[in-house]
Amino acid sequence: MTVRGRFITLEGLEGVGKTTNREFIESTLVERGIDVLVTREPGGTDLGEQLRHLLLHATAPVSAEAELMMMAASRKQHTVDVIEPALKSGQWVLCDRYADASYAYQGGGRELGIDVVAALHDLLQIDLQPDLTFLLDMPIADGLNRMAARGKPDRIEKEALAFFERARAAYLQRAHAQPDRMKIVDASLSIEAVQEQVRTLLLAFLERDHG
Ligand SMILES: Nc1ncnc2c1ncn2[C@@H]1O[C@H](COP(=O)(O)OP(=O)(O)O)[C@@H](O)[C@H]1O
Ligand SMILES: [Mg+2]
Repeated sequence: MTVRGRFITLEGLEGVGKTTNREFIESTLVERGIDVLVTREPGGTDLGEQLRHLLLHATAPVSAEAELMMMAASRKQHTVDVIEPALKSGQWVLCDRYADASYAYQGGGRELGIDVVAALHDLLQIDLQPDLTFLLDMPIADGLNRMAARGKPDRIEKEALAFFERARAAYLQRAHAQPDRMKIVDASLSIEAVQEQVRTLLLAFLERDHG
C-alpha cells in the first residue's frame, strides 16, 4: 500500500519570507529523496489562479464575506484536484498558505471572527489538516518594508497597519493553540538564521515522522 504523503504549509504576513523559504524546504526534502509538489493559495488550479487575480487586483471594494468565499472556493478546488490526489499517491505537498491564512486574514484582519471561518470550512468539508506548518513571524513594519522593495502593492498589501496587526495576532493565537503542528519562526533575522530555524524544525519533524 502506498504511504500517504505529508502536507506542509507556510504561513505569515506579506514579506516575511514564505516564498524564500519554500525553495529552501523543497530542496531540503528533495535532498532526502522525498518527492514534493510545491503549490500556493489562493491559486494552485486554473479556477484558483483566476480567483487569485480577482482577489489581489479587484479595483472596486470586495466585502469581507465575498473575500472569504472566494478564498474558500479556491481552497476547495485546490484540495480536491491537487493536494489530496498528490498526498494519496505518496507525494508530499508544500503549500504557500492554506486554511490558517483565512483564520488570520478574513477571521482576524477582516474581523469576520474565527467561528465564521470555521463554520464555512465545516460546511464545505475543507477538513484537511497540515502535518506541519511554519508560521514566519516578525514585526509588521519590517515585513512591509521588505514588500516595498518588491514593487507595487496588491489590494491586500495596501491594507492599513491595524489590519495586519489583527491578522498577525490571529496567526499567533492559532499557533499557540496548536503548538505540535504550527511552529513559530522568528522571520526578522537574516535569511541564513531563518533557514537554520526552519531546517531544525523540519529535521525534527522528519525524525518524528519516521521514528
Ligand atoms: N530573512 C530575510 N532577511 C531579509 N530579507 C529577506 C528575508 N527573507 C526574505 N527576504 C526578502 O524579502 C522579500 C520578501 O520575501 P518573500 O519570500 O517574497 O516573502 P513572502 O513570500 O512571505 O511575501 C524578498 O525580496 C526576499 O528576498
Ligand atoms: Mg510569497
